[in-house]
Amino acid sequence: MTPDITPLVAGNWKMNGERDQLDQLALLARGVDADLADKVDVVVCPPATLLYVATTLSEDTALEVGAQDCHNESKGAHTGDISAEMIKDCMAEYCIVGHSERRTDHGESDYHVAGKAQACWRAGLVAIICIGETEAEYDAGSAEQVLKRQIMQSVPEGATEDDTIIAYEPVWAIGTGKTPSPEDIEEIHAFIREELATKFGGHGERMRILYGGSVKPTNASEILAVNNVDGALVGGASLKAADLLAICESYRHV
Ligand code: 13P
Repeated sequence: MTPDITPLVAGNWKMNGERDQLDQLALLARGVDADLADKVDVVVCPPATLLYVATTLSEDTALEVGAQDCHNESKGAHTGDISAEMIKDCMAEYCIVGHSERRTDHGESDYHVAGKAQACWRAGLVAIICIGETEAEYDAGSAEQVLKRQIMQSVPEGATEDDTIIAYEPVWAIGTGKTPSPEDIEEIHAFIREELATKFGGHGERMRILYGGSVKPTNASEILAVNNVDGALVGGASLKAADLLAICESYRHV
């Protein structure tokens, strides 16, 4: 945690969830009561096909909705893509950009990611910009170098705590059940904080830094208590409302 920063827990459903999954979204919305919402911002990022119905279902609740990716342009001949403006039109408020699965599966470079973050700002969305080293980079001892480059190149100039959230997701921890130790998370988040403060001054000091990668109800309270961990980006465990709520509950009594 960081003093004076409201934490945020976001569930990334990835390419999971057809309409029947909306039952979980409704349960989640019901579970985020006023007391919990006071302690933590809770966001769910369903696939684009469910975005509009998700925002409709969560209207008048404390649950917020985000998308998982956007194109950098506002419209045009880009078959299959969706723009940040379209996401905003669905009444969503956040958009994940630069997830490692998109960097790998779709060859997205830091340059693409920065363009998408700017598109989010243009449309009035908060960009959740993902960074993180691969296993090979971790083993080679180059994690900090990779993160520094990603912060320099994927997070555009002018980012503030109001329009940008950083999600640190070590690629080797995603969907593997492996997580870095709390000590390692503390060290790397401190490094990210320092880099953000160097680049963005006070805005970098106030920007939320989420941890992502195999966060579950069983390890959440330990991870979320670490210095400079301002929330979590949760994949697999976000598909069940009870699990995502259990993760959020870590914040109820702090
Ligand atoms: P898991 O929580 O399934 O490891 O996924 C993390 C992630 O990639 C969230 O964006």
